[in-house]
Amino acid sequence: MKIKAIIPAAGFGTRFLPTTKAVPKELLPIIDKPAIQYIVEEGVNSGIKDFVIITNKYKKAIEDHFDKFLELSNALKNNNKEILLQDIDKVIEKAKFLFIKQHEQLGLGHAISMARPAFSDEHLAIFLPDDIFSCQTPAMSQLIKVAIQEKCNVIAVQEVPKEDVSRYGIIDVRRQFTPNLFQVKDLVEKPARNAAPSNLAIVGRYVLSPGIFESLEDLQAGSGGEIQLTDGIQNLLFSGEKVFAYKIQGERFDAGTIVGWLKTNIEFALKHPKYSQEIQRLLSNLDRDLLIMQGKAEALKPKNQKLFF
Ligand code: UTP
Repeated sequence: MKIKAIIPAAGFGTRFLPTTKAVPKELLPIIDKPAIQYIVEEGVNSGIKDFVIITNKYKKAIEDHFDKFLELSNALKNNNKEILLQDIDKVIEKAKFLFIKQHEQLGLGHAISMARPAFSDEHLAIFLPDDIFSCQTPAMSQLIKVAIQEKCNVIAVQEVPKEDVSRYGIIDVRRQFTPNLFQVKDLVEKPARNAAPSNLAIVGRYVLSPGIFESLEDLQAGSGGEIQLTDGIQNLLFSGEKVFAYKIQGERFDAGTIVGWLKTNIEFALKHPKYSQEIQRLLSNLDRDLLIMQGKAEALKPKNQKLFF
């Protein structure tokens, strides 16, 4: 299967304002690397060589990140510090990048449709850079395997608590094949809690046939006033293409909100050989402080308080 990656990265990142006024959300660090670098590394480790990144005119820094910086490389070499750029240089050597601008932020579906001129008959491996996976087998590689085996479109899903369904696209299951593999009957973007057909939420990885470009054409704005990729996939289904959903084997980190990004950083720091011990110490001190604070608050509560209703 011929395949190219698309990483939509042209959004405003409003949940991180004012930081993201001038700094692309996709370049916010998870420990020592920008979020989007984890994504490209996952793509490269899944065997993908071509990456189409959708940006806007204020996100030139993303292009710079995936370009060689010879003066810096030479300066580091002179100080025996080349190791600092080793990972990103490896990615730059293995992958080819094409940057396409989305001039109006009309939604994820619209961002994907911007990549059409870069594709002929290749499948699309779509990565949403907010979702970072930690898996033994790279998340995209798991989806590609299913797409090849079943000769179909595949979207990544994860079970979410009922109260969270309205934050996601949710699938309606036609058939379950294994504990992790489903055929999709329909999908609905951000349904109300009691209208959700399941609690299987679409998370940020997809392998789609090039038919998706036609399915996105002339699509009207949907949920949230945006042109939604979920609506495009629904059109793909209605045009007769098979869509499967696969529960990714591994852990997903949602780095697209402030709290999610903080949690991702803490979890990654705990696994990082250089920072793990220090962070463990910090967390156990914080835990102790928290217990003391809670104890004090408890002690300050008036005793034998009578309750009146
Ligand atoms: P999000 O909605 O999570 O990102 O879109 P956002 O719009 O940048 O962030 P908030 O919601 O305002 O905080 C998912 C992905 O799709 C891209 C975003 O850059 C993000 O990586 N996107 C979204 C586009 O490329 N274009 C769009 O019009 C919308």
